[in-house]
Amino acid sequence: MISSADIYLLGSGVLSFLDITLYTQKILRQCKTVFFLHDISTLERFLKEITPNPVNLMPIYYVDGRNRSDIYQDIARHVIEGAEKEKPIALLMHGHPLVYSSISRLILTQCRDRGIGVEVVPAVSSLDRMFIDLGLDIAERGLQVLSAAMAVHEGIVLNPKVGCIFFQIAHATSPLAMRLCETPPEDVTPFKEYLLDFYPPEHVVYIVESAVELGFESRITPLELERLEKAAPAMNYTASLFVPAVMQRQMPTG
Ligand SMILES: C[S@@+](CC[C@H](N)C(=O)[O-])C[C@H]1O[C@@H](n2cnc3c(N)ncnc32)[C@H](O)[C@@H]1O
Repeated sequence: MISSADIYLLGSGVLSFLDITLYTQKILRQCKTVFFLHDISTLERFLKEITPNPVNLMPIYYVDGRNRSDIYQDIARHVIEGAEKEKPIALLMHGHPLVYSSISRLILTQCRDRGIGVEVVPAVSSLDRMFIDLGLDIAERGLQVLSAAMAVHEGIVLNPKVGCIFFQIAHATSPLAMRLCETPPEDVTPFKEYLLDFYPPEHVVYIVESAVELGFESRITPLELERLEKAAPAMNYTASLFVPAVMQRQMPTG
């Protein structure tokens, strides 16, 4: 049995349907409607097999050129109106539902005000996949995790002795959705200048894009920080940036 929530906020994990937990699958099977936000064809086929009414909101609302916050508001409204018509329903998102998801935060706030019950279910996030692709155990040196736009805009002070993963590096300076457009190199310059306040120009950083579709490999693009604009074509909607810690030189012994 699943709980008695009206809305389930779920995550599909990262690699197609392979990361979906057993509990999430159970909820997907029992919800009257499952809204989802993906353009991964093998995942879409899987959803058609296990849930009676899967509805992809991505092509309806996620139109390039629209303001991202309007898109998030529209999706939250659509899901809440869905739950007012029939229960239970679910929203299945990429990765983990509480890792960088404005939509989840909007739904939680608005449902609290209206007395609608929401259960958020843990899932595999892109961080989990990136740890594997980078061979990174964060117990070794810790980790800072930030949104690129927020870090630059607020001038957040970084600790270069601790590695950092930046989310949402594509079109970081624009409030508009641009899923299908390449990031222009000039958009990368403010982010690079910000990082140069904390890391040396020759420091090697990594654009990471963990595979999301079956049959594709994860892509890791290493390059020196001072050349970050050259990696603009790799900075797409599902890419993140890993900046390793600057290691202190070993003190001579003896
Ligand atoms: C709106 S956030 C959603 C994150 C998602 N909820 C999660 O759990 O990872 C989208 C950002 O997550 C990161 N991301 C998502 N998928 C990724 C992937 N396959 N590889 C690397 N980073 C990814 C990127 O920084 C991207 O801009």
